[in-house]
Amino acid sequence: MSNSNCILVTGASGRTGRAVIAALANRGAYVRAFIRREEVSEELQALGANEIALGDLFEGDGLEQAVKGVDQVIHICPPMNPGEAELGKKVTDLCLAHNVRRLVEYSVLHPILSDVRHHHLKLQAEEYLINSGQIYTILQPGRYMQHHAMIWKEIMATGKHSMPFSIDAKFNIVALADLAEAAAIILTEDGHEAATYQLAGPHSLSQVDMARIISEVTGKAIIAEAKPIDTYRSGAEKAGMPAGRIEQLCIMNGHYDKLGLVGNSNVLEWILGRPATDFATYVKNDLLNN
Ligand SMILES: NC(=O)c1ccc[n+]([C@@H]2O[C@H](COP(=O)([O-])OP(=O)(O)OC[C@H]3O[C@@H](n4cnc5c(N)ncnc54)[C@H](OP(=O)(O)O)[C@@H]3O)[C@@H](O)[C@H]2O)c1
Repeated sequence: MSNSNCILVTGASGRTGRAVIAALANRGAYVRAFIRREEVSEELQALGANEIALGDLFEGDGLEQAVKGVDQVIHICPPMNPGEAELGKKVTDLCLAHNVRRLVEYSVLHPILSDVRHHHLKLQAEEYLINSGQIYTILQPGRYMQHHAMIWKEIMATGKHSMPFSIDAKFNIVALADLAEAAAIILTEDGHEAATYQLAGPHSLSQVDMARIISEVTGKAIIAEAKPIDTYRSGAEKAGMPAGRIEQLCIMNGHYDKLGLVGNSNVLEWILGRPATDFATYVKNDLLNN
């Protein structure tokens, strides 16, 4: 029997799940983490998870057992998953069946972009939730600044900021720590029912802008250079990424190449009660000093 204020976090061992658990713990929330690999239990408990629930999101009855007795669920779907819409429906139905007070759905900025599959699937999950009668809050986060952590060594070694889309396409990249804090505020406060929040970063930046900011912060000359999509594809293949995921990432990057992913930080700043983290601060605090 769990604490009646228990919050179930799915996708708990992932990048977003871990950040949300830490932010919830920071606000004194009682957290049940849903994981499929028992070996990460201790790490999640160290981050602040009070309970661990084991299971697979798509198979078996682990998810249903985990939903039982919780007050709220924040559902963070594995990225680029072809079953995302069906899983969203399953989570909604389980919340209704087990009288979960609120379901917080972790979606994406602009799910209406029908040419990008995971946006389209998230839109279907949102539509089902909104029509279901379940009390909800939907979060629509923009592209994370944390994508830079994966290429930081390469940027520093080569002097090139090289992502696989046009160097002029603009993005309101957002700090994951801000998103996690916003999610934790929403989960621990009243007044966010039936809301859909676009959560984007404070500045609309192209690769040229990002390279300039990194140069200013580090004192090292960095130039922007679009990574050819074939180079990106073969790098992903070499890293062992499944073919279906590579395909979807290439479609997403094709969209970004033409249109970027632009949003607005007003709602995020209203929720946080402070300015959103800007890219220069993120580079200084998270990349340079780590
Ligand atoms: N990255 C961005 O810029 C961005 C922007 C907006 C929205 N989002 C959304 O954020 C969400 C989370 O992304 P992320 O980068 O945090 O993902 P991630 O780090 O890859 O984490 C995915 C999580 O899902 C778990 N998982 C995968 N398959 C599972 C299964 N069958 N049963 C149980 N658990 C399973 C993984 O567990 P294991 O650790 O065991 O693999 C992991 O905990 C995605 O829906 C994405 O679309 C991302």
